[in-house]
Amino acid sequence: MTYDRFGRNIHYLRISLTDRCNLRCVYCMPEDMTFRPSEALMQDDEVLRLVRLFAELGFDKIRLTGGEPTLRKGVVDLVREIASVPGIRSLSMTTNGILLDKLAEPLARAGLQRVNISLDTLNPERFRSVTRWGSLEHVWAGIEAAEAAGLTPIKLNAVVARGFNEEDVVALAELTRQRPWHVRFIEMMPFGGVTELQTGAVVPHQEIKQRLEAGLGALEEANGGRLDGEARLYRLPGARGTIGLISSVTQPFCASCTRARLTADGRLRMCLLRETEIDLLTPLRAGASREELRRLLLQALWNKPWGHGLAQQEIPLDRAMSEIGG
Ligand code: 5AD
Ligand code: SF4
Repeated sequence: MTYDRFGRNIHYLRISLTDRCNLRCVYCMPEDMTFRPSEALMQDDEVLRLVRLFAELGFDKIRLTGGEPTLRKGVVDLVREIASVPGIRSLSMTTNGILLDKLAEPLARAGLQRVNISLDTLNPERFRSVTRWGSLEHVWAGIEAAEAAGLTPIKLNAVVARGFNEEDVVALAELTRQRPWHVRFIEMMPFGGVTELQTGAVVPHQEIKQRLEAGLGALEEANGGRLDGEARLYRLPGARGTIGLISSVTQPFCASCTRARLTADGRLRMCLLRETEIDLLTPLRAGASREELRRLLLQALWNKPWGHGLAQQEIPLDRAMSEIGG
């Protein structure tokens, strides 16, 4: 077990498998985003060496992210290898779903347990305006394929951005009546330096909840009012699925954060919203011993920052979300 200096048990690693994406969501990256050359990214054996090291320190939960993780060449084989590392009990992926139609089944067979799929609207035109390039039909086919492959419970993530999809929360929430899906609304984080969407485009938790209740009636608290990970859960009367609200901006969950992040180029980022990173790939390539890497890791984990400063307008400008892995 590994603890930071505030006593938080850090055991959840999010790994960005690539900074590339086949969409260009307006809140995530500019349309003309430039990506890193592939030599700068961790190769499969490097990912695996680091995963083993984290597992030895007590990490038991891994989420694969991007960019779009399904774009990584050989992703199914990499998933199989990560799933077989001793100590890894939970292996999931955050994806835009576009390629799941074909990949859900092989990924599930390789040992992937669950997926979170991004879905910001059920309106095909607005889907295109948020993602710039995407087609809702592909994502829908991906969701159905993921469910059929047993990558369940399915979680659908909607980032709510003013002027794009704040009207769509009601229709998305209604999916939970018939389907056992968890639809989660995420407050958009304003990445001022990278996207055009600034603080004014944040739709706060309270407003999302009001919109839901205006359209659907009172929401029942689910999960006894406790947080489920980072989400506060609600349920429509009689619904099969749940509605989650993730208030990363207005009510950060830093006190219970158990995460560390590995960027696609092998930097350990201890907080999504802090610029400090520890380069693991360079020492790994320079032949650092297991013991040296372990010391580097433990020190970085110990120094995990307490929290972010979004509420004080401290916005990290160094990287786009697609490079850090959401
Ligand atoms: N705010 C909140 N979430 C974001 N994501 C991307 N950009 C933002 C943002 N500005 C999320 C997407 C996806 C993951 C890659 O990161 O919803 O799930
Ligand atoms: Fe791609 Fe996800 Fe970023 Fe959209 S939010 S551009 S799907 S990485």
